[in-house]
Amino acid sequence: MPSAPRRIAITNALPYANGDIHLGHLLEVVQCDIWARFQRLRGHEVLYVCADDAHGSPVMLRAEREGISPEAFIDGMRTRHLSDFQAFGISYDNYHSTHSEENRELVERIYAAVGDHIRRREISQLYDTQRQAFLSDRYVKGACPRCGAAEQYGDHCEACGATYSAEELIDPVSILSDSRPEQRRSEHYFFDLPAFTEVLRQWVDERIVQEAVVHKLQEWFDAGLQQWDISRDAPYFGFTIPGETRKYFYVWLDAPIGYMASQLNHLKNRGREQEFEDIWKPDSDHEVYHFIGKDIANFHTLFWPALLHAADMRMPSGVFVHGFLTVNGEKMSKTKGTFILARTYAEHLDPEYLRYFFAARLGAGVEDIDLNLGDFAQLINSDLIGKLVNIASRCAGLLHRWGGGEISESLHDPELWARIQAEGAGIAECYEQRQYAAAVRRIMACTDATNEFIQRHAPWQLAREPGGGAEAASICSQGLNLYRLFILWLKPALPKLAERSERLLNIPPMQWCDGEAPLKSHRIRPFEPLLVRIAPEQIDTLLERSREDLLRTA
Ligand code: 2FM
Ligand code: ZN
Repeated sequence: MPSAPRRIAITNALPYANGDIHLGHLLEVVQCDIWARFQRLRGHEVLYVCADDAHGSPVMLRAEREGISPEAFIDGMRTRHLSDFQAFGISYDNYHSTHSEENRELVERIYAAVGDHIRRREISQLYDTQRQAFLSDRYVKGACPRCGAAEQYGDHCEACGATYSAEELIDPVSILSDSRPEQRRSEHYFFDLPAFTEVLRQWVDERIVQEAVVHKLQEWFDAGLQQWDISRDAPYFGFTIPGETRKYFYVWLDAPIGYMASQLNHLKNRGREQEFEDIWKPDSDHEVYHFIGKDIANFHTLFWPALLHAADMRMPSGVFVHGFLTVNGEKMSKTKGTFILARTYAEHLDPEYLRYFFAARLGAGVEDIDLNLGDFAQLINSDLIGKLVNIASRCAGLLHRWGGGEISESLHDPELWARIQAEGAGIAECYEQRQYAAAVRRIMACTDATNEFIQRHAPWQLAREPGGGAEAASICSQGLNLYRLFILWLKPALPKLAERSERLLNIPPMQWCDGEAPLKSHRIRPFEPLLVRIAPEQIDTLLERSREDLLRTA
């Protein structure tokens, strides 16, 4: 008997509303989308949501520079983000905003629930008297207090690697006004994180957290957790703290709550509000997973689970951390044109190619992934065009010619079918464990075996022999049946190619269990080209346009 479907809530990190989506974002979003699509294919109930991370000083300052309200600015950005994600086939069930009524409601609910764990204390910070604003570390520069290097930010020195507080900088300057800031005191609100050290230790033991992240957590525990500052003074763009008029919740408090706000917005619109409570109750049987980059692991493995626990809510079932994306072996660079925006890429190349490339490189680890553009073109042309689509284009044409477009009633080589079909279980396990590169390798090995089978039987020759047409059709039928399996297995990564292939094969959208049996006595549609090769010029144009784009917007 099939087991009951799992109920799985999935998120990727909320992109900041202060800039466009670039390929670095897409690495994570594609990783997460593949997992969500895989779980749906398996018949599980998935709730995959995201939102724009709309609050904070950078958004406020950008809106000010553009002469519009922060609300108008974030609306425009959300529309751009949404259209980028659509172009890349990201299957969000909902895409909301942290600047929403649902988020305000949830932030206030959680804040009230954790009330016993909030402390207030005065701190001293640099203050820009001209702009009348406290300065966060990134808005102040000065000489490093350790090595004296000029022009260093308020938290660490690029030259010697020292970390310090902004007040230690020598000759600090506010980058908002070029004036010299002064020190001022202000009362801040803190969440008592150290009180949750034991709870967090236990959470790490019980949930899915990668080895490398466990080590990092160990270091943080050993160093001792600190009180977490959750407030910011006006001017700020965010939610005011209840009872205050000039103090706001720090963007990092309301950002993860934005995951919930997006779920709530989606479920409420469908009259399923109770489901939201079911997801987050302490003994919930829903699963909750967050896909994030390694730079924000502390927020998701310390503050967020502790906050949830303090609010008497369940903690995440797992946090999946990935590494950064480099392009041609280096950090993305604006001058080299390798800082590539999602929209620029999509204007020049098929988004499915990038989805496939990421799938072919992604494991479950936190290592960085390199997008070498030469390797990228080579991989697409050889795997997708040369191996995969080649099976369909060869077999479909011949089947129409010699078999009336009808897949034969029995398999030409049942043993080969059985051997390849048996790979499905292992491939599913690879997806489940986020070992996409291993899944792709196994699928490609199967396409090799299939191409070899077709080559060996050479149906195009057989067909020319007297009475050979039927056998040629039977070989092509087997080729198409195997192609159907590969498309099913790649469907989480290549949803659009899967759609076109399902159309060619004249079948409804496949589920994972459809891989059990082959098609028999089934008419396919006329062949239409499925994918085209990448030409080297396309890569050159992409880099050139990326350079131009960024010069325009710099
Ligand atoms: O690092 C970032 O891009 C943040 N905007 C991620 C927020 S994730 C979540 F907590 F909202
Ligand atoms: Zn230094």
